[in-house]
Amino acid sequence: MPDTPAPSPAANALWGGRFAAGPAAIMQEINASIGFDRRLWRQDIAGSRAHATMLAARGIISEADRDAILAGLDQVAAEIEGGRFNFSTEREDIHMNVEARLIELTGDPGRRLHTARSRNDQVALDVRLWVRDAIDQLDLQIADCMRALVAQAEAHAATPMPGFTHLQIAQPVTFGHHLLAYVEMLARDRSRFADCRARLNECPLGAAALAGTSFPIDRDATARALGFARPMANSIDAVSSRDYAIEFAAAAANCAANLSRLAEEIVLWMSAPFRFVTLTDAFTTGSSIMPQKRNPDAAELVRAKTGRINGHLVALLTVMKGLPLTYGKDLQEDKEPLFDTADSLALCLAATAGMVRDLRPNAEVMRRWAGEGFATATDLADWLVRVLGLPFRSAHHVTGRLVAVAEARGTDLAGLTLAEMQAVEPRITEDVYSVLTVEASLASRGSLGGTAPANVAAQARAWRDRLGSGAIAP
Ligand code: ARG
Repeated sequence: MPDTPAPSPAANALWGGRFAAGPAAIMQEINASIGFDRRLWRQDIAGSRAHATMLAARGIISEADRDAILAGLDQVAAEIEGGRFNFSTEREDIHMNVEARLIELTGDPGRRLHTARSRNDQVALDVRLWVRDAIDQLDLQIADCMRALVAQAEAHAATPMPGFTHLQIAQPVTFGHHLLAYVEMLARDRSRFADCRARLNECPLGAAALAGTSFPIDRDATARALGFARPMANSIDAVSSRDYAIEFAAAAANCAANLSRLAEEIVLWMSAPFRFVTLTDAFTTGSSIMPQKRNPDAAELVRAKTGRINGHLVALLTVMKGLPLTYGKDLQEDKEPLFDTADSLALCLAATAGMVRDLRPNAEVMRRWAGEGFATATDLADWLVRVLGLPFRSAHHVTGRLVAVAEARGTDLAGLTLAEMQAVEPRITEDVYSVLTVEASLASRGSLGGTAPANVAAQARAWRDRLGSGAIAP
């Protein structure tokens, strides 16, 4: 056996170099969140304003201290807004950066701000406020995307396209009907975000570190001042819970998945063998080598960004699982996933709204394919049921045989002669041809939620009215 080699400085060459700077440096690097949580500055200052105002109202600090604190916070906000604020890693996070600067500006009044408060309830508050704002912003964007879809749907309420199952031509539908399906999906995304907002809208401020405080604070007042429905009932829950962040990420993942399906369809529809739609120069890119190319990059990126949004949901779930109550520094890892989720989804929504407005459907091509693949076979079967009184299963069988005859002869169903049809089912009459066209098929689908152009136009109009009024979708 060779001797065990003595440890050498080279043994830790991968990270030892960095350690020459001392463990304190790496400690600071892993610990500091100011690099990303500076985005919480508005929420942090809003929380401090409400807290200081409440402390003075309860006689915990003087009115003079409150006024100094509020003026100091205005100054800090102005510095950050104006890009003149010196964010410092030694001051670790946004909470300590703001507070330390406030103390520089005001002295003792600033030192009194943290009475009856901890960074644990402070960060819980800031992140809740941030997610609430993000939801409000995303809600506007989803509504805008829906408006874009509704406008196209209204214009194409009667434009035929092939409806697919298994990506095989199934039955004719209208392009407007297809787009309105996404409107329904996005309406549910809005309502998922609205549910999340309603549940998160309780105020953790006043929980202090984890156990509450000995000061006579007024949690109702701070909750009200910050637009919350009520204070959170349990101080331990208040500083520990991030389930609302998970809900937000889940709602975002769902929304992204919906956008990604539309993006994938746009990619397919743009492809030459489909040629269902075109996008203009505004939403396509060229190839550096193939001059003829027009690529749907925005759609591809919407499709791909769904991956990182899903990843953030898993990251948040993983941070939270097994974390003992109450606060753990693990919770600092909630922010980057949340921020990137909101940013990525906002980008996807904006790009999707833009693409939908830019879409030019190629109505002739879609009309041609709508009638391919025996797409009106179900209409024929329905006719056999309705007119000849056949049970549906028998009608299905007869139609299947007619499709086989047509296929063997290289024609479609309307191309079969009456004699050929009667050879399969003698009671078939001339009237059957009236249901075999794409237009007849579309017009006949008048059941609730069906693709009949009149239905689609009415649905699109209803959505336009609902979205125009700014009402939250049901
Ligand atoms: N930066 C911290 C976070 O994001 C703030 C809370 C720190 N609290 C503490 N007890 N160290 O979670």
